[in-house]
Amino acid sequence: MSSETLDRSLVLDAVRVTEIAAIAAWNMVGRGDEKAADQAAVDAMRTALNDLDLDGEIVIGEGERDEAPMLYIGEKVGKGGKHKIDIALDPLEGTTLTAKAMANALAVMAWAPKGTMLNAPDTYMDKIACGPGYPAGVIDLDKSPSDNVKALAKAKGVAPDQITVCVLDRPRHADIIASLRSVGCRVYLITDGDVAGVMNTADPTTGVDMYVGSGGAPEGVLACAALKCVGGQFQGRLVFRNADERARAARVGITDLDRKYDLHEMVRADAIFCATGVTNGALLDGVKLEGGFVHTHTLVLNSATRTSREVRMKRPV
Ligand code: FBP
Repeated sequence: MSSETLDRSLVLDAVRVTEIAAIAAWNMVGRGDEKAADQAAVDAMRTALNDLDLDGEIVIGEGERDEAPMLYIGEKVGKGGKHKIDIALDPLEGTTLTAKAMANALAVMAWAPKGTMLNAPDTYMDKIACGPGYPAGVIDLDKSPSDNVKALAKAKGVAPDQITVCVLDRPRHADIIASLRSVGCRVYLITDGDVAGVMNTADPTTGVDMYVGSGGAPEGVLACAALKCVGGQFQGRLVFRNADERARAARVGITDLDRKYDLHEMVRADAIFCATGVTNGALLDGVKLEGGFVHTHTLVLNSATRTSREVRMKRPV
């Protein structure tokens, strides 16, 4: 096992952390309060992380220290010990989905050895992704969405109208959607949650072949950690809308603002990725209460061993 590999025994620790965050967020499903839902998940995840024997540092978190009282970038978590870990997390990916009791909200986290994950600032990122099994470079962020569909269709051996592309439903994506529709492919629009959107490309049961569009840069790193474990391709480029966002990049040590990152530059070593469903979704069932037990459904991936596990937990309420 290389020093760039996390101890596999950490897998179950990671599961417990996202389970606890998902249960806390689930208490707030449908209550119309995004902030309270997020806060519940943050509090629970932080408590769970601080209970573990690890020397963790948040590299992707709730924001910078002055705006996030907990799980801020640079915060140390865990009781210490030999496991020195970079932590990327989104205790509640899909705050609006949770507040409105809509599908696909997740509690998400990725771990990698210290110093191996991109410290992405809290800005947007242009993203493109596809699942495993394609030749390297089949998709390219610098090509038009329609050209990417044509390339992917050729590699898959189908016509472009047999390709499905997932896109966040936002006015800023109107040109992307028009370009995709010009070649006749299906556009699978999601209202929120692009970590799951990217992960859909690696799960044949979803029917999604490609993801394209801009979303949060932190979510980009989390999605990369997931794809690193199951295969697939991802490219991302940070988007800066103003001087404040460029300053955020400088604070995390990013100097080349136009750089196009690929998956292995964003997550440079083996990673553990973990997601627990808050509400039901394409990838995971949400938390549910049944017969006096609370039930959770978690996907945990380990890139070092290429293992993928689905963990169903139940415990008395
Ligand atoms: P939150 O859970 O923080 O609300 O993020 C949801 C999300 O849809 C992400 O998955 C995505 O990356 C981002 O918001 C897109 O941002 P915007 O809503 O500004 O388009």
